[in-house]
Amino acid sequence: MSPLPVDWEAKYRQGTTFWQRPDSNPALAGWLADGTLRPGRILLPGAGQGAEPLDLAKAGFDVTVVDIAPSAVAFQQGRIGPFGGHVLLADLFAWEPDAPFDAVYDQTCLCALSPALWDAYAARLARWVRPGGVLAVLFMQTNGEGGPPFHCDLGRMRELFPADSWTWPAPLPAPVAHPSGLSEQPAALMRLSA
Ligand SMILES: C[S@@+](CC[C@H](N)C(=O)[O-])C[C@H]1O[C@@H](n2cnc3c(N)ncnc32)[C@H](O)[C@@H]1O
Repeated sequence: MSPLPVDWEAKYRQGTTFWQRPDSNPALAGWLADGTLRPGRILLPGAGQGAEPLDLAKAGFDVTVVDIAPSAVAFQQGRIGPFGGHVLLADLFAWEPDAPFDAVYDQTCLCALSPALWDAYAARLARWVRPGGVLAVLFMQTNGEGGPPFHCDLGRMRELFPADSWTWPAPLPAPVAHPSGLSEQPAALMRLSA
């Protein structure tokens, strides 16, 4: 089990969810439009109460959501359950899928985890994306100390997702503004064969 320095369930119950967007991240629309993300099996770790799982389900994806907060899981069950989506209450550090996914969409999950857990989380992401599959990730840019959200320095991200395992886009797309005033660096990384 991972240490949970944050009581995420309490935040949902109290409505202190400053990270939440009213609609899907504009980066998702871009990846759908340019074919970076094509209908297939997709995992959203730590999806919270975000709008992205529903938009992906409506776009024909086979969506799996894993979150540790019961309120987030109940919310997503109501949203994507009718589309046949899979919604799991689990700790990402204790859970393993039966098979890797065509794609993983990570939005403010990595940055929500203590950096002490990042190597272990990146190793899991590398297992969870099939060779040739895509990790569509939003690297939160806080340029500050502490967290969550923790600053996802891009040099550190290139160490976590190294070029011998992941193909990075060049150049990186423009950062996306976050409602909190922060910004997110989108990157769609292709998983190379192990
Ligand atoms: C900052 S929120 C982001 C939610 C959503 N992705 C969004 O953009 O609105 C982080 C989410 O990760 C979940 N989470 C944190 N640690 C987790 C863990 N170890 N296993 C599963 N979910 C976790 C929290 O419950 C929370 O829903």
